[in-house]
Amino acid sequence: MTDRFLRACRREATDRTPVWFMRQAGRYQPEYRALRERYSLLDLCRTPELCAQVTLLPVTQLGVDAAILFSDITLPLLGLGVPFEIVEGTGPVIGRPVRTEADIEALRVIDPERDVPFVPEAIRLIRQEAPVPLIGFAGAPFTLASYLIEGRGSRDLPATKRMLHGAPTLWARLMARLTEATLAYLRAQITAGVQAVQLFDSWVGALSPRDYEAAVLPSMRRLFGALQTTGIPTIHFGVGTAGLLPLMAGAGGDIIGVDWRIRLGDAWARIRQAGSQTGIMGNLDPAVLLAPFEAVDAASREILADAGGRRGHIFNLGHGVLPETPVDYLRRLVDLVHEVSAGPAASTIGAASPAERASGGRGIGS
Ligand code: CP3
Repeated sequence: MTDRFLRACRREATDRTPVWFMRQAGRYQPEYRALRERYSLLDLCRTPELCAQVTLLPVTQLGVDAAILFSDITLPLLGLGVPFEIVEGTGPVIGRPVRTEADIEALRVIDPERDVPFVPEAIRLIRQEAPVPLIGFAGAPFTLASYLIEGRGSRDLPATKRMLHGAPTLWARLMARLTEATLAYLRAQITAGVQAVQLFDSWVGALSPRDYEAAVLPSMRRLFGALQTTGIPTIHFGVGTAGLLPLMAGAGGDIIGVDWRIRLGDAWARIRQAGSQTGIMGNLDPAVLLAPFEAVDAASREILADAGGRRGHIFNLGHGVLPETPVDYLRRLVDLVHEVSAGPAASTIGAASPAERASGGRGIGS
């Protein structure tokens, strides 16, 4: 088994830069589309054999260095007792949004073995077969809260922000509930065998740093603090978080995932300037893969040059694979990342990148 992904999570030297893709199992794959003609997304998540099959498909097909459990951030809602649907092209839709004190009090306490037994079962099956480490995941409390409150994905998050600012006590109670639910859910995944966990805070980029610090950071600190005692690496991913990175770095994860709206080198410098030693994951714009491969090649080399062979870089897209992506491009991208990072740059592991030298970065490679 190649462990370069886990080594990079621990900021150890690796033979090549590890690479995997968010949404590496999905509609861009003909095999996945064929399965989806027969089964709903939730059927795939709830049937351990199908879940294992879908999880492992991109591992054999693309040669990525990690598998990610095939599931969705909405699955723990089954345990909270919140009915939802996943609508194609839209995502999760919650018929009765959670907005009042009574709604929050009615949320059940999740018991993963009772409420989502198929998740640990799928993890055990995948671990028997997977040639690479398996990543478990959950939605971060803010992103889950935004779905619960809005009822669906939303750009401006009006109802969420109304509660956050207008009813801070209620907000804190909802976040506390979701934090404990997320922790229970992730602990069950870890007990079943996942070797790293990622928290997806996909919509947190909608917040100001001030609001992030007051209304979200305490939950993230609690989560990463509790997860640290399990000894497995943690990844903290968000979208549109360039302005939040110094705060996110203080939450305590091992790796911070960034999107393409900031240069990788700049993101890393901001994290270091905040005094954090975390590694970084990212950050190719997934839409570049819709252009001819030369564009993918150029953009990816630039990211690898920005990373400069420093320890703790995991190559990924800045968000999930788009359904229109050619399978072959992802395979070529995996090879490219491995080839380029095995080249002369690899021997500079531990050395400063031009970006960090220019910004007077510190703590490099440690
Ligand atoms: O990365 C992986 O391969 C693991 C699978 C995975 C899914 N959802 C499966 C899925 C992961 C990690 C998620 C997380 C998830 N789900 C997030 C956080 C990451 C992100 O993308 O920001 C969010 C916000 C959701 C909620 C959600 N579920 C959305 C926005 C959608 C897309 C709606 C659409 O049709 O485009 C879903 C559905 C979903 N979850 C799909 C997949 C592969 C789409 C494919 C399908 O319907 O079969």
